[in-house]
Amino acid sequence: MGFATDAIHVGQEPDPTTGAVVAPIYQTSTYVQEELGKHKGYEYARASNPTRSALERNLARLEGGRHALAFASGMAAINAVITLLQSGDHVICSHAVYGGVYRLFTKVLSHFGLEFSFIDTTCVENVEKAIKKNTRLLYIETPTNPTLAISDLGEMSQLARARRVPLVVDNTFMSPYLQRPLEFGADMVVHSTTKFLNGHSDSIGGAVILTRQEDYDRLYFIQKSAGAILGPFDCWLVLRGVKTLAVRMEQHCQNGQAIAGFLEPHPKVKRVFYPGLKSHPQHELGTKQMKGFGAMLSFELGSRESAERLLRQVKLCSLGESLGGVETLISHPATMTHSSVPPEERLKIGITDGLVRLSVGIEDVEDLIADLDRALSHV
Ligand SMILES: Cc1ncc(COP(=O)(O)O)c(C=O)c1O
Repeated sequence: MGFATDAIHVGQEPDPTTGAVVAPIYQTSTYVQEELGKHKGYEYARASNPTRSALERNLARLEGGRHALAFASGMAAINAVITLLQSGDHVICSHAVYGGVYRLFTKVLSHFGLEFSFIDTTCVENVEKAIKKNTRLLYIETPTNPTLAISDLGEMSQLARARRVPLVVDNTFMSPYLQRPLEFGADMVVHSTTKFLNGHSDSIGGAVILTRQEDYDRLYFIQKSAGAILGPFDCWLVLRGVKTLAVRMEQHCQNGQAIAGFLEPHPKVKRVFYPGLKSHPQHELGTKQMKGFGAMLSFELGSRESAERLLRQVKLCSLGESLGGVETLISHPATMTHSSVPPEERLKIGITDGLVRLSVGIEDVEDLIADLDRALSHV
């Protein structure tokens, strides 16, 4: 079946007891057992819940994996993946990851004897050089948040295979509609379902999609033991959001391209970071591994003062953290999403005080352009 058909039907077969076309919300903490050891496959809702199982089956199919596990947030999903490791292990991570990932790795997980190297993963040689005897995980975000740098999924997977180090890809920015890292050979995909998968800015959640049974068994054990599960109502919201993922992403891409095209020649804009522009350094690679260029873009205004002026003037574009919803959000990475990255590190990865990030929604694009145009006239 095609992607849109799977998005609507997998895990969401009509309810066998009532025929309801929408998967029910099983808002329960436990399940009655007929006698000791005899139950219907569900014992306690931290371990399993039918609404969660429905979402997990759906996400596994959309990413082309065999299994999925849904977590309380994207960060909870990433944390669970890292707890597969042991004290003394080393992780190589894209240097321009989401600020929350940087914070988790450097300020929390490093206290447990894990070592992290932040590397420019757009160049596979850099990664090869950084691999050590104790490297146990390659963790990449592509495109990166907020500079939209692209790592080569095929090359990274080959290297990971050759060196027997699992490759984990954060696919939040693209969604499986635009990019499917497992098809290139990645071992696990992580998502903040908060973003495009849910798509309506009304739920926080995360997921890991896997290919190997043994990885699934180990991660399921962690999910059940640590308990950072996604609640049934949030699972239901993500299932509902995913049904329109294909049409939403098509519109997000069209609007993203149009706004990037408007901003690039604008006299107040110094540079635009959008993989769909020919000026993007990895545009060609993007066309090979992505079905579209998505809705995320950043642009440079030259100073914090200019960025602040723009952010004060926009009306339709809402100033806020997060991304991937139907409404356009605008943000200032240096003081918002990446404030936990030290200023000198931020500059190394291109997050200047004049950089502004847009998560382009699916409103009428003329209205978005008019809003930006008016706000830029105040810069
Ligand atoms: C690329 C990326 N990964 C992971 C996360 C974390 O997800 P959550 O906020 O659902 O914990 C975010 C949040 O912005 C993100 O942008």
